[in-house]
Amino acid sequence: MLTLDISKATQFLPQGAVQKYADSAIKAAKALEDGTCAGNDFLGWVKLPTDTTDQFIASVNECAQTLRQLCDTIVMAGIGGSYLGAKAVIEALSNSFQPLTPQILFAGNNIGEDYLYELCELLKTRRFGVINISKSGTTTETALAFRLLKKQCEQQRGKEEARKVIVAITDAHKGAARTTADKEGYTSFVIPDNVGGRFSVLTPVGLLPIACAGFDIAALVQGARDMEQATASTVPFEKNISAIYAVIRNAIYQNGKKIEILANYQPKLHFVAEWWKQLYGESEGKDGKGIFPASVDLTTDLHSMGQWIQDGERTIFETVLSVEQPEHELTVPTDDENLDGLNYLAGKRVDEVNKMAELGTQMAHIDGGVPNLRIVMPRLDAYNLGQLIYFFEKGCGISGLLLDVNPFDQPGVEAYKRNMFKLLGKPGY
Ligand code: PA5
Repeated sequence: MLTLDISKATQFLPQGAVQKYADSAIKAAKALEDGTCAGNDFLGWVKLPTDTTDQFIASVNECAQTLRQLCDTIVMAGIGGSYLGAKAVIEALSNSFQPLTPQILFAGNNIGEDYLYELCELLKTRRFGVINISKSGTTTETALAFRLLKKQCEQQRGKEEARKVIVAITDAHKGAARTTADKEGYTSFVIPDNVGGRFSVLTPVGLLPIACAGFDIAALVQGARDMEQATASTVPFEKNISAIYAVIRNAIYQNGKKIEILANYQPKLHFVAEWWKQLYGESEGKDGKGIFPASVDLTTDLHSMGQWIQDGERTIFETVLSVEQPEHELTVPTDDENLDGLNYLAGKRVDEVNKMAELGTQMAHIDGGVPNLRIVMPRLDAYNLGQLIYFFEKGCGISGLLLDVNPFDQPGVEAYKRNMFKLLGKPGY
């Protein structure tokens, strides 16, 4: 089971700071379950893991299997919550160097002309399929990429064959993605009305791409189910790790630390941090409040951001995401000449070196005045990622309510769109 160590954070807090929020955190967890809090029309994620049936998982796997058979490349078009969860899980579970078969590519998460051009060029040589993921069904970045991909897929395969390899994941009734899917007769999955984008990784938004990549979505959902139980409002505060995480970060924030840095020691976790930044940034950054979520990949970034973290403005705290057990074993070899002076490491696992880097960094950062939280995943597999996802989601809901914001809206993201539409001459703007 995932664990959370707060002992290196509480030492930075005044006496009683944690206890001050403990009751409110459990009340917030209860309000999320009962649907009595702000944003209660977007609480479908709370019981989603236990509500997800084996039959539903089988239907997602069946669709994935069809795409895997018919395609050598599958492009996921989506942005924000319709992209980051799937990307995070797929990257975390993939071999760092061997492309998956079929290869999974992402589009619709930027408007880079070169990116799209190069993608379209690559796809000319591929038997590709497309998954169009958009809850609103009108997001410009995704719609633009999908227009290009749909056309190219139809040109390469013919309209009839293209229909078999284009899938839509969108609202049940509204939006252009739904209209297109219904008109063209695409296989489609529904994003539940009451699940917001950044909380949607355990809906088909995340499950279908992850299944297309060949990973075990049943294990992912099972991990989330177990964490749903472990963080229920009936679990006392002292054992409820999502409530504890929410309380500690709020207590630290109230004591002047405005930035949380999520640090990982596994390159494969880079996109988990990107997903986490969206989850917490969009949920809490409003009404002139909110911790700024940042991230570093360590030890890589100790050679770039390490100086700032150690010695810069003391407005930060750090949450370390640590994986206990690597999936592979690699030992440092002995070298008779020892020209590099590394024989003191000979015989040690590479992971032991990594763990000592982690411990040494934590000690240094604590000395430098950076409160430290540590989340430990026993392994980097689908089951533990399911736990991690739900742990962060529940922590986010509780944390936002403690901060007294509506964690489930995102009014701020409309501002750039209005300007962009006006500048581009979209009718009605
Ligand atoms: O969390 C959110 O709601 C957003 O990040 C959305 O996921 C993102 O804007 C994409 O929206 P849509 O799925 O409607 O295309």
